[in-house]
Amino acid sequence: MPDVTVTTLQELKQKGEKITMLTAYDATFARAACQAGVEVLLVGDSLGMVVQGQDSTLPVTIQEMAYHTGCVKRGNQGALIVTDLSFMSYATLEQTLVNSALVMQAGAHMVKLEGGASLAPAVQRLAENGVPVCMHMGLTPQSVNVLGGYKVQGRGDAQARQLRADAIALEQAGAALLLLECVPSELAAEISQAVRIPVIGIGAGAGTDGQVLVVHDMLGLSLTGRTPKFVKNFMAGQTSIQAAFEAYVTAVKDGSFPAAEHGFSA
Ligand code: KIV
Ligand code: NA
Repeated sequence: MPDVTVTTLQELKQKGEKITMLTAYDATFARAACQAGVEVLLVGDSLGMVVQGQDSTLPVTIQEMAYHTGCVKRGNQGALIVTDLSFMSYATLEQTLVNSALVMQAGAHMVKLEGGASLAPAVQRLAENGVPVCMHMGLTPQSVNVLGGYKVQGRGDAQARQLRADAIALEQAGAALLLLECVPSELAAEISQAVRIPVIGIGAGAGTDGQVLVVHDMLGLSLTGRTPKFVKNFMAGQTSIQAAFEAYVTAVKDGSFPAAEHGFSA
């Protein structure tokens, strides 16, 4: 068991202390993030883009997710490791269970799935089998071809209502954590207050219970030259990656990141 558990995350939410999360794909960066005090390491399928150079997360396989989870596990020092289930690896309940077992046995402490209330039965079955679940909602990059691009989600009354209802249904199904990507700041804050489980945001404003960024983004590294509006370069003014990680943890904890300019309006 890691030092940081689902219970720790619940306690941080109750205390009103912000949760810090960063992506990690290898042992060295995992270790550095832990030493800076990052509580949750996300083995994100963003590795398809930042590690593999793909143009979306769709080509990533569950075997690759398990491989990088093992790399992160070997560098980990007490953080909670969350691993993404890759594109189409949880299309059926059977696949969801088999593929969650793969990444849990590789070293994950929690799995992350993209979607809404239709995944409630999967969340329940995983929890019953000892697998805590983080549900990724809002902008879900595995559905980029359905969404028609990487766009802000939850704008307008109908979409906002749907997102709120999904969050509550997934909490009731036993989800341990929610992650909101690119949703209006006000809506993300509202959802964070409406559920008891912690809510992590990326491009979701300062009102969530914690923050996550892709590690390459927050170090100012970019393959494409395009940086999303919600990213801050924490390497600026620092002389080491370690110091940049520490600056991120400090900024999330003291509420100075994200600023209003990193969020989206309704
Ligand atoms: O894969 C990833 O890095 C993610 C974060 C952007 C939340 O899912
Ligand atoms: Na992801």
